Amino acid sequence: MTTTSVPAVEFTITNDQLDTGLRGFPVGTCWTSAVDPDIGVTYVGYPISELAYMPPESVIYLVFNKRLPSEAEAKAFADDMAARSIVDPQVFEILRTLPKNGHPMDWFAVAITALGMTGGTGDYKQDALNLIARMPTALAAIFRIREGWGDLLPSDPSLGYVENFVHMLGVPGTDEDALAKLLRIYYVLHMDHGGGNLSTFTGKAVASGLADMYQSMVGAMNGLAGPRHGLANQDCFSMVKEVNSEDPVEVEQVMRDRLANGDLIFGFGHAVLRQEDPRAQVEFAVGDELYPDDHWFKVVKALRIGAVKALKENPKVSNPYPNVDLVSGSLLSAGGLSNPDYYTTLFGWSRIAGIGAQIVDEREGFRNGKGVAIYRPRFIGVNQPSRSVRD
Ligand code: MLT
Repeated sequence: MTTTSVPAVEFTITNDQLDTGLRGFPVGTCWTSAVDPDIGVTYVGYPISELAYMPPESVIYLVFNKRLPSEAEAKAFADDMAARSIVDPQVFEILRTLPKNGHPMDWFAVAITALGMTGGTGDYKQDALNLIARMPTALAAIFRIREGWGDLLPSDPSLGYVENFVHMLGVPGTDEDALAKLLRIYYVLHMDHGGGNLSTFTGKAVASGLADMYQSMVGAMNGLAGPRHGLANQDCFSMVKEVNSEDPVEVEQVMRDRLANGDLIFGFGHAVLRQEDPRAQVEFAVGDELYPDDHWFKVVKALRIGAVKALKENPKVSNPYPNVDLVSGSLLSAGGLSNPDYYTTLFGWSRIAGIGAQIVDEREGFRNGKGVAIYRPRFIGVNQPSRSVRD
């Protein structure tokens, strides 16, 4: 694949665009996915609504190979992922030493570092695939050790990628089939979102200095850990709990009050999207199918009506519609994952595939294999008069 089909881009930077977080600045190209303000994300051209119900392994294959696998290729890829999935026991020993009051995203970052130290090869693609294959075991260990759910449960990759994760989690008293169905869709929905979202951009920037895949992914995941990015799914569920009403009219008023108080509104709007996020639409459909009577899911449905009305009244709001974070927490909680502190780790688990594929593309594919140069944007020095310590 080459980059010869890049559409012509004309872009002038004006002073008022400085210090705006590079928002909208063309920086490079992306082969795995694109985000259109009106239609949302597509992976290699396929709308997310069409991919959402596919086997996660096939969608991982898609972002790495830029085409969907045949049946035989899908089976071979799933077998290969299963073969790669063995985690060095030192990773569990390291996790057991971590402070329980540390945030799960910090545990997650340590787990990636530990996986790198025990199994890194130095090859971007091999490391990306190994990390994807091993993450379910490491993440399940994070849950079980932190939550005190007992011994770690042995991996059984023959179950399937997400099914094995649900098996290793062993969430007490939950319907594992429903949780696996939910997490398969959740995994595909969160996998990739263009090249410029903070975690992806950060991961690629770190990799451009030729840090390895694991080091780069830790940078990416620490970007995801902030409330303006991945942690918004945790904060959104706290907001849903505060709203705590299934009545759209009541919810509309609560949201008006929050807006008047200057409180943050999570789960609505987006840096790029200008319509309802198609990932949220899939999640609403999944909730209707799996957990229609769940109270928090009903609150989220009321928000879809009431909050949108309240947000539309505010001329400063460019997108008053739900994004992927609005619904995900209520579904995870209905599925038995009731502690929202873990929600961003689940997002990160999935996003590792998209970021991993993008790093491989940038390091090994772009510029005819030469790779993207080390990231070095220009910052304009201000308030720096010429002076000398000798004066
Ligand atoms: C998302 O999945 O919506 C993001 O990673 C945020 C973004 O696209 O900037």
